[in-house]
Amino acid sequence: MDVIETLPMVPLRDVVVFPHMMIPFVIGRPSSIKALDHALAKTKRIFLSAQHDATRDNPAPDEIYTLGTVCNIVQSLKLPDGNVKVLVEGLDRARALEFREEGGLLKVVVKLVPRESEPPTGVEGLMSKVIGLFEQYVKLSNNLHYDAMLAAVRVEDPGKLADTIASHLVVSVEEKQNLLEIVSAPERLTRIATILEAEVDKLNVDRRIQGRVKKQMERAQKEYYLNEKMKAIQKELGRKDERNNETDELRKKIEQARMPKEAEDKALQELKRLEAMPPMSAEATVSRNYLDWLIAVPWQKKTRERKDLHAAEKILNEDHYGLEKVKERIVEFLAVRQLVNNPKGPILCFVGPPGVGKTSLARSIARCTNRKFVRLSLGGVRDEAEVRGHRRTYIGAFPGQIIQMMKKAGSRNPVFLLDEVDKMSMDFRGDPSSALLEVLDPEQNHSFTDHYLDTEFDLSSVFFIATANVLHTIPQALQDRLEVIRLPGYTEHEKIEIAQRHLVPKQVKSHGLSPENVTFSEGALEELVRRYTREAGVRNMEREMSSILRKVARKVVLEGRGYSVAITAENVGEFLGVPRYRATRQEEHSEIGLATGLAWTEVGGEILPIEVTLMPGKGALRLTGKLGDVMQESAHAAMSFVRSRAEEYGIPREFNRKLDVHIHVPEGAIPKDGPSAGITMCTALVSALTRMPVRRDVAMTGEITLRGKVLPIGGVKEKLLAAHRLGVTTVILPRENEKDLADVPKNVLEAMRVELVDHIDEVLKIALLPPETPPAQVSAEGAGDELGQVPDRMTH
Ligand SMILES: Nc1ncnc2c1ncn2[C@@H]1O[C@H](COP(=O)(O)OP(=O)(O)O)[C@@H](O)[C@H]1O
Ligand SMILES: [Mg+2]
Repeated sequence: MDVIETLPMVPLRDVVVFPHMMIPFVIGRPSSIKALDHALAKTKRIFLSAQHDATRDNPAPDEIYTLGTVCNIVQSLKLPDGNVKVLVEGLDRARALEFREEGGLLKVVVKLVPRESEPPTGVEGLMSKVIGLFEQYVKLSNNLHYDAMLAAVRVEDPGKLADTIASHLVVSVEEKQNLLEIVSAPERLTRIATILEAEVDKLNVDRRIQGRVKKQMERAQKEYYLNEKMKAIQKELGRKDERNNETDELRKKIEQARMPKEAEDKALQELKRLEAMPPMSAEATVSRNYLDWLIAVPWQKKTRERKDLHAAEKILNEDHYGLEKVKERIVEFLAVRQLVNNPKGPILCFVGPPGVGKTSLARSIARCTNRKFVRLSLGGVRDEAEVRGHRRTYIGAFPGQIIQMMKKAGSRNPVFLLDEVDKMSMDFRGDPSSALLEVLDPEQNHSFTDHYLDTEFDLSSVFFIATANVLHTIPQALQDRLEVIRLPGYTEHEKIEIAQRHLVPKQVKSHGLSPENVTFSEGALEELVRRYTREAGVRNMEREMSSILRKVARKVVLEGRGYSVAITAENVGEFLGVPRYRATRQEEHSEIGLATGLAWTEVGGEILPIEVTLMPGKGALRLTGKLGDVMQESAHAAMSFVRSRAEEYGIPREFNRKLDVHIHVPEGAIPKDGPSAGITMCTALVSALTRMPVRRDVAMTGEITLRGKVLPIGGVKEKLLAAHRLGVTTVILPRENEKDLADVPKNVLEAMRVELVDHIDEVLKIALLPPETPPAQVSAEGAGDELGQVPDRMTH
């Protein structure tokens, strides 16, 4: 049965009254006081419900929640200011059906929400969970009394428990109203559990943060206290002297460092600050570090420069075999530097593959000129701060590499090697090359400023030298400052000479051995060059040598100083295992569809095989091996050319209707782009189609036009060295590259034939052998049976 009654009502601003709860509050609005009086005069029953917006003085009916609580007025007390303080007890949830304004007060017709006649069962688990959470909540929260918890623990009815806890929660009015409107007790409890979990989490975080803050404050206070105490103790003991000693010493060092005025002022100022700091504080350590750096940098120290060019030449020859042109240019460079006597000239830069002696030449130059030598590897330097340092305001800041290296050099006129400038990268932290530009600019580098030192340092007496594998990755502005000297790589003969004269003695000594313990025969070195390494320089050869010598060293330790071994071509394998490379091309068979190209990469020249396979199909051209755009275009050009000339080569004209062509360029390590593989692809293509094998001892390079003309390419010297290294006997080159042969070592040219060509026809004449089997027979009239004759594997 619905219970409906009419009651006076008071809209509440920021309270939600739950059934079973006693709540005190103050009433002030005239209409509310009238409603209260009305109720007191009758049944003492009143309807209380929250208004949507607490700031509204006269909320309209539709601004009041319709679900509220019918309450009993337990007490009321008129306050001197005219307000009334009331204590009410919540009885039942009720829904307002109709609002009426009558005689200056608000009346509502309400329908009571029926109480649950029997408590729901199976909610014990939920109840104890909610009680547990509520206990935590009360413990963590500063605003709630323990009594609240005790009151809750005693309640046995689930609905009543929910309301009791709900009224104690410190949450928004909306959330409370929401709880009031959930009629079902288990649902209400579930909602409360969710709220409590979130609140407990929040309070836990608050508490942790507070704990941390407190700990930090305590520590700071403790430190302060101890510092003060230490000062007092030191004063008591008269230890002021020790402090004075430190400062006196630093002052002396600052004077001895002969800094420029600006730097010295900075240092003395810092010293003054240091004196005022507690000696053991972190601040003092930072300050001392800074002073140490200022003192340690070579402001004035110089080594006496040697200017004797004869001596320089002698030293260069002592340290390096061959490289005649390079040495000549170095001596010229030194001469000009002396004459101009102002180092505004360009920066020497050695460019070439790894292991050709770039770094070691720079070291030699230092020896020639009696300068100290420092080397800064720029590979991977990507941050301006690495070059120029971090500001001192950063924790753990220190100077950049330039200043660090200058300190290491200990003189202000060293040879400073900027190794691998092409490997420097840039990213969001800034571009290190701009810092480097400033370092290398003679107009600016007398006043180089490191962020950490924060004062000018004069780099103008430094002899900078740079090295790089390739030029094109170096920013143009930097390239403009460089005087490039190229080192293309060594011939086999040169490598063996270098090994005999330099690498063997050096390595034997550095492994703690003597020439009595171990010798290398020429044959052994030849094996190292041919079968264990494949490189333009001698770095890997040196590495292989060192792994042989490690094994020898082991024997010497085990068997005594008298142990001796001769390394020969025959026994190298015992030390190094199976050879890594086949020595010569002649050992391999000439094959159909496989042509040998020559490529030019960062590490020097390389051999680049190109394979063509044909299979039944519809004339698709597939290119694999990660070819760059230019190389792909070049493949298409070769294909078009072959099609246009098919008849002349005895290739069925319509082959492209019946066959798919697959061009593959293996050798994953070599970057493949550029037009210079044009004639190689064309040769492999013609070979596959005519079944004429390509000579294995022939290598070629050259761009091809649609009409079959052969155009010149770059890197001739590097490519020829590679071809020579790998046992190629004939190299096909574009005629227009003839002039480049002047740079190629004589013994390389003597060791092989160089064929200069203008047209692809000449290339094919030289490179192709007579056919092994008849050419792929494909006629225009859908000759499926002819295709059947084509062997499964058409090439190789
Ligand atoms: N022409 C040469 N004469 C003597 N030793 C050489 C020669 N070229 C290179 N080396 C030696 O080869 C090794 C590698 O040279 P390195 O200067 O490190 O090469 P890069 O800096 O060009 O990579 C060093 O031990 C170097 O002394
Ligand atoms: Mg190097």
